[in-house]
Amino acid sequence: MALPSRSAPAPRAREHVLVIDPTDPAGRTYQVALGAPDRAIHVCTSAQEGLALLGEVRPDVVVAALDTADLPGLRLLEALRHRAPGTAVIVVAAHPNVEGAVQALRAGAVDYLGRPISPGLLSEKVVRALTSARTGRQLAQAQKEAGDKWGFTQLLSLSPKMIRVFDAIRSVAGTDATVLIRGETGTGKELVARAIHDRSRRRDKNLISINCGAFTETLLESELFGHEKGSFTGAVGRRAGVFEMADGGSLFLDELGETSLSVQVNLLRVLEEMRFRRVGGTEPIDVDVRIIAATNVNLETAVHERKFREDLFYRLNVFPITLPPLRERPEDIPILTRHFLMDAAKEYQLDPPTMVPEAMELVLRYAWPGNVRQLRALCERWVIQCAGRDLRVEDLPGELRAGGKPDEHVGGLFIDESVPLPQLTDRIVNQVERAYLHKQLVRHKGHLTETAAACGVTRRTLFNRMKALGLDVTAYK
Ligand SMILES: Nc1ncnc2c1ncn2[C@@H]1O[C@H](COP(=O)(O)OP(=O)(O)OP(=O)(O)O)[C@@H](O)[C@H]1O
Ligand SMILES: [Mg+2]
Repeated sequence: MALPSRSAPAPRAREHVLVIDPTDPAGRTYQVALGAPDRAIHVCTSAQEGLALLGEVRPDVVVAALDTADLPGLRLLEALRHRAPGTAVIVVAAHPNVEGAVQALRAGAVDYLGRPISPGLLSEKVVRALTSARTGRQLAQAQKEAGDKWGFTQLLSLSPKMIRVFDAIRSVAGTDATVLIRGETGTGKELVARAIHDRSRRRDKNLISINCGAFTETLLESELFGHEKGSFTGAVGRRAGVFEMADGGSLFLDELGETSLSVQVNLLRVLEEMRFRRVGGTEPIDVDVRIIAATNVNLETAVHERKFREDLFYRLNVFPITLPPLRERPEDIPILTRHFLMDAAKEYQLDPPTMVPEAMELVLRYAWPGNVRQLRALCERWVIQCAGRDLRVEDLPGELRAGGKPDEHVGGLFIDESVPLPQLTDRIVNQVERAYLHKQLVRHKGHLTETAAACGVTRRTLFNRMKALGLDVTAYK
């Protein structure tokens, strides 16, 4: 077996944590609390040493004590933020207090710890910061690849299944071939159509989209092919259809599976000849249009049930692209969540919430029937609901919280063995309390005094608990 040569650089550990703490020269507390395969812990005792190590170590997370002799207080945090702007810093205060924590978080720390350091809490906070840093890195990578490698503006993905889709887009975009995009609702079919058009020679011309499922048969014919004045009731003037508008460019026929058989006959003829007449017109019109079609129904089944014409199916199915549902690409869930949270926060001018790992676990476990669109809408809601704070399990809608598998041995509660016992107990108590208060609030139609009396607590206690558990009284009125 060949031994690695001495001069070969050691492979880089996946994650690097830099610790600056004057009270623990051997870094024993940190090595014990944070040790993990694939993680390197670098320990030093002075600010100067720590700052000097930044370039070499390129840490994902820095744990910085605020009581170094050479740069005490928040000056060390400021120096770290200045030298390594994107790096997460957790600060350790010798005498922890609320005001100090607020100041540190305002100055850009991601978290705050007090001495004596609890190894469990330290590990939890560092793992959380590392996870967040990893998601940030992956999102940046997906955004860079989308732009540089694939030339898209909006489609983000790191999943191998989607990378195959991106490859298909790249190979078909330059041709004039008809593309049939298939996939469940909200999987990104419209974005793919846009990506194909934007990479084609037709990109300077129009991409016209029409949702074929949104019109009655008569209106759809007129939308597709246009009409002459007076050709039907309501046709007050001559109007061009989408085929004419897309001339020289691309036409996106969305929800094509919803069309009637008679529209399908006309469409097939137009696709074959690229020539048609307006409704009520006699003059043939020739166009040069690239067709991109999409459907979220299974066209083979529709053909089998005689709801979709077989000849049109073959005409469209020249180059099929199938988008995988979100649940089949879990690696995209954290990056898309981060992306949509940041996006919505920017739009609403709010601070994005930070999703706690337990909530992300449920987000990953959920089946996402509405796919990326559903995730995007929820992220918008979360930004409004949880701006600038942690996004906790309690903030997730019921269908996501129900996603964890209940354990039949403990009365249907979800027992997650990967969580330390005190946190698990807290979480379960909160879940039970929330469910109990929810039932009482429903029974008393959101009347706080009555609900409090029924629960045997004061109105103030009820109000505080509801706030802590994310229960909104207006939902029960
Ligand atoms: N890979 C992705 N990266 C970023 N955003 C995405 C991605 N896929 C989908 N989206 C977003 O999700 C939403 C739904 O996408 P889109 O409208 O393209 O889905 P669709 O498949 O056409 O859905 P439907 O069948 O319901 O019409 C849009 O807001 C879109 O921007
Ligand atoms: Mg669509």
